[in-house]
Amino acid sequence: MTTSGDAGPDVLPNAAAPRRTWLAFSPPSVDQAEIDEVADTLRSAWITTGPKTQRFEREFAAFVRAPGALALNSCTAALHTALATLGIGPSDEVITTPMTFAASVNVIEHVGARPVLVDVEPDTLNIDPAAITAAITPRTKAILPVHYAGHPADLDRIGELARAHGLAVVEDAAHAIPATYRGRFIGAGPNPVAFSFYATKNLTTAEGGMLTGEPAFLERARVLSLHGMTRDGWQRYHEGGSWFYEVVVPGFKYNMTDIQAAMGLCQLRKQEEFQRRRREVVARYTSAFADDEALEVPVTRPDVTHAWHLFVLRLRPQALRIGRDQFVAELTARNIGTSVHFIPVHLHPYYRNKYGYRPDDFPVAYENFRRMLSLPLHPGLSDGDVSDVIEAVLAVAGAHRR
Ligand SMILES: Cc1ncc(COP(=O)(O)O)c(C=O)c1O
Repeated sequence: MTTSGDAGPDVLPNAAAPRRTWLAFSPPSVDQAEIDEVADTLRSAWITTGPKTQRFEREFAAFVRAPGALALNSCTAALHTALATLGIGPSDEVITTPMTFAASVNVIEHVGARPVLVDVEPDTLNIDPAAITAAITPRTKAILPVHYAGHPADLDRIGELARAHGLAVVEDAAHAIPATYRGRFIGAGPNPVAFSFYATKNLTTAEGGMLTGEPAFLERARVLSLHGMTRDGWQRYHEGGSWFYEVVVPGFKYNMTDIQAAMGLCQLRKQEEFQRRRREVVARYTSAFADDEALEVPVTRPDVTHAWHLFVLRLRPQALRIGRDQFVAELTARNIGTSVHFIPVHLHPYYRNKYGYRPDDFPVAYENFRRMLSLPLHPGLSDGDVSDVIEAVLAVAGAHRR
């Protein structure tokens, strides 16, 4: 658990009136540097996939120590491209978690395979390796763990299972920039790992994503991600390029633009500072809430570095007279923006109806979903904002204690 960095008391006795202005849950942390770099691209002769995208791929790969990187227009695109490049398709099964955004599971449907959901571990809410073991069948082709909230999944146990059964591991690292597992960066391994640069993420390009992995795998993924063409636009149109290309597979249109990469290059340089601020905020939330019997703060296992994309607070129903929805409504009334990550996949009508899931099929995911909320956590939060969140949470908990 993070413990450092608290400067003093979080709430004064008889604390001030509730906040007057809306505190957004997760606005992007963008300043003049991104504006200048994007303008530089717009003034140049090349605005789609080109030199800045290539530079962003190299610098991102160096940042997470990846063997290679392929920049795409979303994490969803990266996950879909990875599954398709692995040749996963109809009659195959991919084991994943219900405690994720639908994108992680939709991509399995996109390649025509069957998503097999298994429950999560109660502390981290990451996929439970014991449950994976029980779900492996002769049709299983891959395991798709999600590093929930930025806390790495148990990759050693997942890797052992994959090796024992000849399965691929495709990691959803939408939340995990930068995170480490047993001293190794998420994305540093040879298997495909998908990152998100969506507007709310730790590193944003407005929309965007990155697929890391072995160079030979990424070369096939690169062709698949751009219509199945043997040459991209930059290779055809820049000086010394050649007009000729061939389509070797009916691929997708998933390339990143140099406008996005321009933002990404700036955001990459700020990651250390962003992480420092995220950790300060987490430390203040943790010390303010850890001793409150109505509140459960997130845990960090000893062998990981958490990326702190989300601060997921869990309520303890036995200590409160209200549920999560009213708790959120009362924070909203106090001008504190929150969110819920996630409505478990098996509760969504498409998955519920297609596979006949019931809420209790994944009891850990379901029970935790019902008592969780995500608090504002981003580098732009001032000390006063953090105090406002703490004061509001403690006031709502205090007013409805059993
Ligand atoms: C766990 C997870 N996976 C995948 C995605 C999809 O990312 P993108 O919007 O970049 O496609 C998200 C986005 O919120 C996510 O939270």
